[in-house]
Amino acid sequence: MTSNDHSPLRVAVMVSGRGSNLKALIDARAAGILPVDLVAVASNRPGCAALARARDAGIATVALSPKDFPDRAAFDHALFATLAAFQPQLLVLAGYLRIIDAGAVAASPWPMLNIHPSLLPKYPGLDTHARALDAGDREHGASVHQAIPALDAGPVLAQVRIAIKPDDTPATLAQRLLPREHALLVASVRLLAQRRAAITPAGIQFDGRRLAAPLQLDDDDVLQPAPDVAR
Ligand code: GRF
Repeated sequence: MTSNDHSPLRVAVMVSGRGSNLKALIDARAAGILPVDLVAVASNRPGCAALARARDAGIATVALSPKDFPDRAAFDHALFATLAAFQPQLLVLAGYLRIIDAGAVAASPWPMLNIHPSLLPKYPGLDTHARALDAGDREHGASVHQAIPALDAGPVLAQVRIAIKPDDTPATLAQRLLPREHALLVASVRLLAQRRAAITPAGIQFDGRRLAAPLQLDDDDVLQPAPDVAR
């Protein structure tokens, strides 16, 4: 991937559930604001709604069942081998609700981005909305980060923040965050497609420099440098 490469970025997506983040990518591409080719959508749940969305959009789909494989590593290597035929340049985990074998992540030929509904490094794992409320946090958010061989870890490319209201429940917080997650994912993938951001072994590069702090999504859905590194 070079900065003078303007061909559409070949993106594969992995999903497990309802697929609203996938829909955001499909819609942004259709609207002409996301210069990518969505080359394939893969899932560990053959019947999930996200796969149906992909098929409706005319995107190639791959579905494998973990129960057909002896262990996690065998499943993940098979899934990645199938995806390789589509020659992706980036793999986006958009609501992929399954831990990926660390060896498979380490051996992945493509950089991988994950979207997680918390302000990482806070609250990796499940129940992020309830955990933010239980902790008495005043803000919550979502992060798009490089997937590495550890759960919900890896350099964070970008975040979006929302205020927590006194009467919030995990459900209201999740509902308010979701559309901001969608905007965050689209803006993040767009930066990679525009070759303004790159995931490299040395970390995330942004506008030719190593990214020191996660970009922050503003109210106009534009990713801005974090305030303390903006100067
Ligand atoms: C999102 O909240 C995402 O952050 C998390 O799983 C959820 C997936 O939602 N990783 P959807 O399937 O994209 O609607």
